[in-house]
Amino acid sequence: MSEQRAIALPEDRFQIVEPAGAILGDRFAQDVAAGLLAPRKHLASKYLYDAIGSALFEAICLLPEYYLTAAETQILHEHGWAIVRALGEPADFFELGSGSAGKTGLLIDDAVRAHGSLCYSPVDISTGAMIAGCRALIERFPTLRVRAYAGDYFHVLQSPQLRFDGRVLAMFMGSNIGNYEPLQAEELLAALAARLRSGDGLLLGIDACKERATLEAAYDDPTGVTAAFDKNLLARINRELGGSFDLRNFDHVAEYDEERGCVASFLEARAACRVWIAAIEREVIFEAGERIHTESSYKYSLDQIEALARRAGFLPGERWLDADKRFSVNLFVRA
Ligand code: AVJ
Repeated sequence: MSEQRAIALPEDRFQIVEPAGAILGDRFAQDVAAGLLAPRKHLASKYLYDAIGSALFEAICLLPEYYLTAAETQILHEHGWAIVRALGEPADFFELGSGSAGKTGLLIDDAVRAHGSLCYSPVDISTGAMIAGCRALIERFPTLRVRAYAGDYFHVLQSPQLRFDGRVLAMFMGSNIGNYEPLQAEELLAALAARLRSGDGLLLGIDACKERATLEAAYDDPTGVTAAFDKNLLARINRELGGSFDLRNFDHVAEYDEERGCVASFLEARAACRVWIAAIEREVIFEAGERIHTESSYKYSLDQIEALARRAGFLPGERWLDADKRFSVNLFVRA
């Protein structure tokens, strides 16, 4: 007993904060109603990540077509040591999205080696996946402390319960920022900048613009994992809101819109249908070929990333690319 007490119990090193209003509960029903009753149907991509969606996304990251994960992992492998020391002093990690334990683990490993210990604060809407990931990290790194925030990024960033003790390295990896429309992305980074202090860092992992075929294969893989990930959103509406979607009547479609610089994902009705959703007491009518927009994945050139970060209050620092220049990890410093 006394021997066990000598090492901190995981519970002492792991805290979960649920800021009021940050858990989505009934907002899912409201957003589904608004999105499916709109003239151009849409559902927000954050709802893709329930327990099944999060597991399917982990599977996507293993697909050869979804080169983003391998490219970013390569960068963190090769340059993690430089990345965690680039701010010149130890910094706690604040990550938007709890990432896969694998990728974040690489940087945590480097930070713990460089500085001895670390406080890691992830923010994620998918609470179950975040807790599982954090538990694994706590077990793997005996000097790691975790303070995890459950909820939507904007809510957590506005919450008085969000607190930092010293220097912070904020991280937004995996091209997650690509899910936001450019103006929203700027708003999110500005909301982040407002919570940081001058000299704090922001590490942005972003996918670069490239040929259509590569992008469309990444977002519509031949194995069908991405299609399952997208369609799970309809299954989730069936499970949680008493929906009556027949998933076999919907196809996943991914199209690169070169002008906007993003891959847009849709669920397209094969045949006309009517879908009853009990929780919102509404019937949703689909014509044959009608689409629901489920996700935009924006791609950024190096100049576009820098311009975006500057508009939000950050100054450019170092940047690291993978060998094939498919993906970049960019350090910015809060002005
Ligand atoms: C997790 C938002 C970065 O847009 O590339 C992967 C999600 N969607 N395949 C992306 C996703 C379809 C992914 N992000």
